[in-house]
Amino acid sequence: MNKPFAESCEQNKHAILDVLKKTFTHSQNILEIASGTAQHAVFFAKAMPHLQWQCSDRNSEIPGMNAWIDEANLPNLLPPIELDVLKQWPSIKYDAVFSANAVHIMSWQAVEAMFSGFKNCLTGNATLCLYGPFNYDGKFTSESNARFDQWLKQRDPQSGIRDIEKLNLLAEDCGLILKNDYEMPANNRILCWQK
Ligand SMILES: C[S@@+](CC[C@H](N)C(=O)[O-])C[C@H]1O[C@@H](n2cnc3c(N)ncnc32)[C@H](O)[C@@H]1O
Repeated sequence: MNKPFAESCEQNKHAILDVLKKTFTHSQNILEIASGTAQHAVFFAKAMPHLQWQCSDRNSEIPGMNAWIDEANLPNLLPPIELDVLKQWPSIKYDAVFSANAVHIMSWQAVEAMFSGFKNCLTGNATLCLYGPFNYDGKFTSESNARFDQWLKQRDPQSGIRDIEKLNLLAEDCGLILKNDYEMPANNRILCWQK
């Protein structure tokens, strides 16, 4: 099949890598949730060979991910697994989780299910990094994010830019402490929690 292509994966990948490199220095096994095309997985796994990178997404995305992963042929990039956060989770434990551009696409019910899934799949010292646009107390950090939120909600009323405070409550319930909130290009952020 032709490899699917997501422009959003290319835009900030170098800036994201800079943060992930310092955050995942001591991590080994990483689960990426909602990997989409697996473009990020290929780029990050190549740049961080000490990480065993496991990408995942809903079943519909698996063929596209396989196309990227097969072509990359990296020893530390595993075949993708099906993971719909609302369904059954793998029984494997990970010491790092990364997800980009996902929590504003998922319904809030799915976001809650994702954090609930972390309760069993994270090791005792795990790190979680979420990349994307976020709000503070319901307030947009830019005009363009406000317009993006409107566009998201017209497409799917259950989607929308999430509040950092609400995500943090879910994280705290999993024993995760917010360690860093990095400002990223184009009004995005990376939120990093640690067990
Ligand atoms: C905008 S894409 C982001 C893909 C990629 N991470 C990126 O940065 O381009 C959102 C992704 O969320 C995934 N997604 C939506 N609902 C999901 C769910 N319930 N469980 C797992 N993934 C989900 C979609 O399949 C899609 O790949």
